Amino acid sequence: MFTETVLKEIESIKTKYPNPRSALLPALYIAQKEFGWLSHEAMQCVAHAIDLPEAAVRGTASFYAMFKHNPMGRHLIQLCTNVSCMILGAEKLADFLKSKYGLESGGTTKDNRFSLMIMECIGSCGTGPAMLVNTDFYDNLTEKRIGEILNTYK
Ligand code: FES
Repeated sequence: MFTETVLKEIESIKTKYPNPRSALLPALYIAQKEFGWLSHEAMQCVAHAIDLPEAAVRGTASFYAMFKHNPMGRHLIQLCTNVSCMILGAEKLADFLKSKYGLESGGTTKDNRFSLMIMECIGSCGTGPAMLVNTDFYDNLTEKRIGEILNTYK
């Protein structure tokens, strides 16, 4: 169930659109921020908050890669392995994440600290390999640099 604060935030967003149902994507984002992922219950809350059928909410949520449908670790690593990053060594970095942290795409560390998603291009092809940790962007990645970066996320 959404808190009163979250419901007020969604109500406020709804006023910014001619049709309040257009607030679906921001409402899903808020739900994911609130619950950590989009469970069936979270999508029911969104459907109720913006007066849409649950099927419409699920259909939209399942279309976008930014929405998570399973519990995630405290920090989500999104590593790009698309062509430019792959040429610049991203696959080796994916192997590093697997060997050092036990992370595979879609997986979570045993301590629930990190989850990993292998992504398509995140718009930094000239300075790859690149990744996001939560909403923080990092490029020019090496194994050493990834280790240093991840040490700052507890
Ligand atoms: S290919 Fe990795 S950021 Fe574009």
